Amino acid sequence: MTMTPGVRKLALTAHITSSVGWLGSVAGFLALAVAGLMSQDAQIVRASYVAIELVGWCVIVPLSVASLLTGLVQSLGTTWGLFRHYWIVAKLLITVVASILLLVHMQVASRMADVVAGTTLAAGDFRGMRIQLVADGAGAVVVLVIATALSVFKPQGLTPFGRRQLAESERESNGSAPRWVWIAGVSVGALVLLFVVIKHLTGGGLGAHH
Ligand code: HEM
Repeated sequence: MTMTPGVRKLALTAHITSSVGWLGSVAGFLALAVAGLMSQDAQIVRASYVAIELVGWCVIVPLSVASLLTGLVQSLGTTWGLFRHYWIVAKLLITVVASILLLVHMQVASRMADVVAGTTLAAGDFRGMRIQLVADGAGAVVVLVIATALSVFKPQGLTPFGRRQLAESERESNGSAPRWVWIAGVSVGALVLLFVVIKHLTGGGLGAHH
């Protein structure tokens, strides 16, 4: 089922807004994770981890889900399809894997928010988890920039499934003409036949009995 041009643009606006919004909000997450790891100011460290949890659950997770859903609409509601082009399969994989990792690693963010709610962190406390959050943010930014570039460049390359579908549709269009050609051809043929029969029955020429 393909969308009308107006609906397609509306759906594309939702897709770009959620997907690139996801990238932007992850950049904010990264800034907070770096501040939480590096800052000497206990207030900033505490504020960073409280904010990371809030931004993560209220902005980043919803945007990742929206990006996936609107991406599926763009693929299935247009002639792009979901499994015909490598760039779309790559984006689907990136989005699904990134969303799963996000949900898993948000547990670390929530744990850090709980820790700073009860204690003041010294520089080396929970170092592993704090480094982990910086690595998560940096990795996600890189991967989401790759997904954005794939979307804009749309590198050529059909999957085996896409090639089979293309070959089938070409065979169909070569082997048999569209239905309107058949209907028009049969109608014209019938008219010519009728004309010839009438001509014979009336003894040649429509004006013969004048
Ligand atoms: C990280 C996630 C994603 C990002 C950053 C992203 C970004 C974008 C952007 C910027 C465009 C607009 C390109 C243009 O109009 O030239 C686009 C289009 C598109 N995206 Fe995504 N996308 C993401 C995920 C997905 C997913 C998961 C799918 C499929 C399951 C998908 C399928 C598509 C399709 C088919 C188009 C072309 C729409 C059209 O031309 O009508 N995207 N994407």
